[in-house]
Amino acid sequence: MKKIAFTNQKGGVGKTTTTVNVGAGLSLMGKKVLVIDLDPQANLTYSLKMRTSKLEKTVYDVLKGDVEARDAIMTHGSFDLMPSSLELSGAELELANEPARECLLRDAIDVLYEYDYILIDCPPNLGLLTLNAFTAVEEVIIVLQSEYLALHGLSKLMNVIEVVQKRLNSSLEVAGIICTLYDSRKNLNREVVGHIRDHFGSKVFKTVIRDNVALAEAPSHHKTIFEYDDASNGAKDYFALAKEIRNGH
Ligand SMILES: Nc1ncnc2c1ncn2[C@@H]1O[C@H](COP(=O)(O)OP(=O)(O)O)[C@@H](O)[C@H]1O
Ligand SMILES: [Mg+2]
Repeated sequence: MKKIAFTNQKGGVGKTTTTVNVGAGLSLMGKKVLVIDLDPQANLTYSLKMRTSKLEKTVYDVLKGDVEARDAIMTHGSFDLMPSSLELSGAELELANEPARECLLRDAIDVLYEYDYILIDCPPNLGLLTLNAFTAVEEVIIVLQSEYLALHGLSKLMNVIEVVQKRLNSSLEVAGIICTLYDSRKNLNREVVGHIRDHFGSKVFKTVIRDNVALAEAPSHHKTIFEYDDASNGAKDYFALAKEIRNGH
C-alpha cells in the first residue's frame, strides 16, 4: 500500500488531471486504487460526476468524524473515489480547534488496508487540508506546469514539507516532480523543463505530460482519459507516468 499526495499551491497546473488519470492508469494495471478529492472546489469529483445527491457522504463528513472513511467511498469504473463538496471550504475554520487537527485524514484512512494506492488531490493552497494530506501520506509528488514561473513559490512548498517531516510525519518524502501542460513547439516550455531537470535531477519523472486537448475535454464527459480517448497523447503520457510510479520512480 502506498499513499501519495499530488500538490502545488498554484491552481491550474494539472494536479486534478494528474491524480485522476494516474489513478485510472494504475487501476488499468490491476492495482486497487482509491482517489481522494481533498479540494473544496471538488473538480475531481465533478469531472467524474460522482456527486449525484446531497445524501452522499464526502471527505468533509469523514474529517469531521461524522462517518467512517469506508462509508464515503464510491466506485467509478475500475477505481474508487472519496468525493469532495463545497462544504469542505468551511473545514479549515471548523476544524481549527480540533486536537491533532493535522492528523484527521491520516487517522480516518488508516483502516483502508485493501488498497494498493491511495492518491490525494490537494487544494491550491498550503492550509490545513494540505497539511492533512502531507500527514497522511508517505510520498508527495509535485505537479509543475512547464511554464515561466513554474518554480516560483516552490521554496515555500518545500519549507512546509520540511516542517511536516519534522513535526508530523517523519516518513514523508518528495517522491517525484511531474511537468505538465508541455508544448514542445514552445522554446520556453523546453527551457523550463530543462531548468527543472537541472535543478531536481532524477527526482523529475522521465515522462512529461504534453498539452493535449483530450485531457481538457474528458472531464466534461465525466470520463478519465482512458475512457474518453485511449489513443490520445494524454492517455499515452498518463499511462507512462503511472508505470513510472508503479515501478517506484
Ligand atoms: N496536459 C493537459 N493538456 C491540456 N489541458 C490540460 C492538461 N492538464 C490539465 N489540463 C486542463 O487545465 C485545467 C487545469 O487543470 P487541473 O488538473 O484542474 O489543475 P489543478 O488541479 O492544478 O488546478 C483544466 O481545465 C484541465 O482540464
Ligand atoms: Mg484541482
